[in-house]
Amino acid sequence: MNKISFKVFMNIFLGSGTNDTVIASMENYYTHVLSGLFSTPLKIPGFAYHRAVKARKMLEKDVQGVLTERRGRKPNDLNSKRGLIDIIMEAEDEEGEKLKDGKIVVILLTFLLASRESSGRAASWATTYLYQHLEELQKAKKNKRKS
Ligand code: HEM
Repeated sequence: MNKISFKVFMNIFLGSGTNDTVIASMENYYTHVLSGLFSTPLKIPGFAYHRAVKARKMLEKDVQGVLTERRGRKPNDLNSKRGLIDIIMEAEDEEGEKLKDGKIVVILLTFLLASRESSGRAASWATTYLYQHLEELQKAKKNKRKS
């Protein structure tokens, strides 16, 4: 479920049709960052925290790469994918200024961390409960047919 959740959110954040290789690479870095959150902060090679710091830098680089690619895009290019990243790029702060790249990267990485585990786990529990209560699943199916 976490894998599905990650793929869904990458498509929402970076735009549908985001390359599977990019998603797989970012998910690999993401898992290192996640283990680093629960590790002893030892910045020594071989330790989870050290790996997490390096992986976060790689994630920053990946998101920055997407930003650079989007900035180089021709205006009115209707064929190109659009995601949350494009909406954040167009947004303005209270002073009417566009957000700097560094800030956009931090926002997206925060969303990435907040979304995969929470939604993946919620979907896993929902599946487990529905499996244990098949009558509820039937009810949901009937309601779906009605709507
Ligand atoms: C079923 C899915 C989700 C659940 C159960 C969930 C649950 C939560 C909970 C309980 C918190 C509060 C954590 C705390 O203050 O200790 C939180 C915060 C947050 N969540 Fe979610 N979340 C979900 C999905 C998402 C998604 C999809 C995103 C982003 C796209 C997101 C972004 C955030 C952010 C940014 C915060 C921090 C808000 C703040 O403190 O200002 N969450 N979430």
